[in-house]
Amino acid sequence: MKVQLAIAIVTIALTACMKNNSSNTNSTAAPFANEVDSLLSLMTLEEKAGQLNLYAGSWEFTGPVPKDANNQQKLENIKSGRVGAMLNVITTEGTREAQKLAVENSRLGIPLLFGYDVIHGYKTMMPIPLGQAASWDADVARSGAQVAAKEASASGINWTFAPMMDIARDARWGRMMESPGEDPYLASYLSKAWIEGFQGNDLSDEATIAACAKHFAAYGFAEAGRDYNTVDISMQTLYNIVLPPFKAASEAGVASFMNSFNEIGGVPANGSELLQRELLKGAWNYQNGFVVSDWGSIGEMITHGFAADTLEAGYKALTAGSDMDMEAHIYENSIEELVSTGKISEEILNDAVRRVLTIKFQLGLFENPYRYSDTSREKADLLTEENLKVAREAARKSIVLLKNENNLLPLNKEGQSIAVIGSLAADKDVPLGSWRAQANEGSAVSVLEGIQGAVSNKSDVSFAQGYTLTTGRRKFVYELEFVEGDQSGFSKAIQLAKKVDVVVLALGEDCWQSGEGRSQTDIGLKGDQMDLMYELLKVNKNIVVTLMNGRSLAIPELDENIPAILEVWHLGSEAGNAIADVLFGDYNPSGKLPISFPRNVGQCPIYYNHKNGGRPATNPHDAGMVFWSHYTDSPNTPLYPFGYGLSYTTFEYSDLSLSSSEMNQAGEIVASIKVKNTGKVGGQETVQLYIRDYVGSVTRPVKELKGFEKITLKPGEEKVVQFTINNETLSYYRADLSFGSEPGQFALMIGGNSQKILTTDFRLVD
Ligand code: BGC
Repeated sequence: MKVQLAIAIVTIALTACMKNNSSNTNSTAAPFANEVDSLLSLMTLEEKAGQLNLYAGSWEFTGPVPKDANNQQKLENIKSGRVGAMLNVITTEGTREAQKLAVENSRLGIPLLFGYDVIHGYKTMMPIPLGQAASWDADVARSGAQVAAKEASASGINWTFAPMMDIARDARWGRMMESPGEDPYLASYLSKAWIEGFQGNDLSDEATIAACAKHFAAYGFAEAGRDYNTVDISMQTLYNIVLPPFKAASEAGVASFMNSFNEIGGVPANGSELLQRELLKGAWNYQNGFVVSDWGSIGEMITHGFAADTLEAGYKALTAGSDMDMEAHIYENSIEELVSTGKISEEILNDAVRRVLTIKFQLGLFENPYRYSDTSREKADLLTEENLKVAREAARKSIVLLKNENNLLPLNKEGQSIAVIGSLAADKDVPLGSWRAQANEGSAVSVLEGIQGAVSNKSDVSFAQGYTLTTGRRKFVYELEFVEGDQSGFSKAIQLAKKVDVVVLALGEDCWQSGEGRSQTDIGLKGDQMDLMYELLKVNKNIVVTLMNGRSLAIPELDENIPAILEVWHLGSEAGNAIADVLFGDYNPSGKLPISFPRNVGQCPIYYNHKNGGRPATNPHDAGMVFWSHYTDSPNTPLYPFGYGLSYTTFEYSDLSLSSSEMNQAGEIVASIKVKNTGKVGGQETVQLYIRDYVGSVTRPVKELKGFEKITLKPGEEKVVQFTINNETLSYYRADLSFGSEPGQFALMIGGNSQKILTTDFRLVD
């Protein structure tokens, strides 16, 4: 019988620890430090290096032994303790079989981690992260991640590659859909909630999983929005815009970080000492988790031209602080040699291994390596009514009302004939979004189904497909093929539109238009959608557009011609029901955009927290001259600004006041504002606080979000909302990268979006 040596050692260490609990009472000591060290002391160089290998499982672990040499080698490596973690091995059976290989065959029986991209759900799909960000609601993020963790862990997964917290300013970049948007404050707020949701208070709880803050760092700043492209940004942008959510993640105790494909300032993130050693593991004191590379990215350092060969790539990545190699197979071919020849000290290797083992201990894998492979939970916990309820709540809170002329919305459930038009309206797959883990294909509630389920009389609802968006295979890995110039479905749609009181027209993007490798130079609506819109307008002006998309789109023609527009993203399993909730007023829309919507692609990258520049606007007497920072063919402003979103009611902001017009660095100011519901129905408003530092040793943005509060007001009700401004609110990373505030004049702005704001000034004095 195979002796599970590691588990025996751990038991001894646990007992020792209980007898002498000094390491447990010392809150600064790494959790399980004794257990990790005693295990480490038993490990050979080969076994240590093995813990840093992350393999993709590309064969059925419950099926026959793989035939190809590559997979056979992987299998052998798992058995001999040369693998620390697997990704894309799913189901309780699959993970159990894979775990057995490691635990029962390898000398020390160290269990594997099972990682998977559980980004916005496992079986039950929540809205895509960008959509969730529009809720500005930690409960949405937290409860969605909790459900995802519960489902994934019931299926053998114990580690998710989420949350993604890349700031995204450029809609050409397809991965905007995974991001919390363009603002570091909102991104930090949501990322913390996602981490809490995935990890809970106790990683060893069988319904929680280890999270991963990604992509570290600046992946969202790929030049021209082209995925995997070079990133070249200033230290100020890096420190003030890109890094805050990662720092927040480290403070929230995230179990791992994933670095990124991009280079930054000429150094691929994998090889960045600054990011990984100096900041993350240095200044931020991140001790109890590890850094995993992105897929193959340690090897890509060679392609980048940053390392000459495998040995150098391994050397640079490990010394810079990348702990685990995802599928580049660089570590397995370099670390033993690097350490045995003394090029890398064993202490650097030990540090990386220690981090990986710590998370395995925290997950409880040494107590029971199969704790996440529980068939009964897998049967009971997936796609439950309860989980779908969370998804519906998250989905309706993520919808943003962009336009509602003459209160066309909400619609009536009775006595109003409705034509639902557009292939996206009947689509049960697109709403599931990209990065959909194990969602069942075509399992979302469609817009059409949602509407049919909500109205009193189904015969009031008719449907025509109108356009076809794509043809051919639709999968995560393939390019999409768009249909162009097929107007065969128009006439039925036009006939229906003629007869009805109102048209609900579903427009937007296929879910595989966004996500990894999905950059676009055109961010308008593809195919025949716009043509159909114009044809329908000729026969019926009462059109409500539901816009499904994974990025901000350039939709000026919609804004100009369509009276009511709902931004519905890719909302997940319950999309259609949530959309119907909003269309018929069962839920009053409360979402606010987490990104600016440009007027055209030429404005990208566009974001609200930009700098003023030296020539921000024309002088009145220079009107008509060109020498100011503008486009000759487009306004500078976005179509819809960051923080924007309407409601079925209206809110009036008044009486902005400050407790004092001056504060010093030890002091604080309380800002108050009155918000009144001036409409006829109850509603929720997100009251947003922005600050501007007029003069700095480094120029500061024209405004920065520094707080927000969601309030619920009945018709006619008013509330005073208060925000406290202290030195931290006014601080930033300066030229020397020190964090602090600088005395001078500041603007304080409060409002319902980043443009519609009341403003006052105050001074920070010495
Ligand atoms: C993506 C990561 C993802 C990884 C594993 C990469 O291509 O960039 O975000 O976690 O694959 O699937």
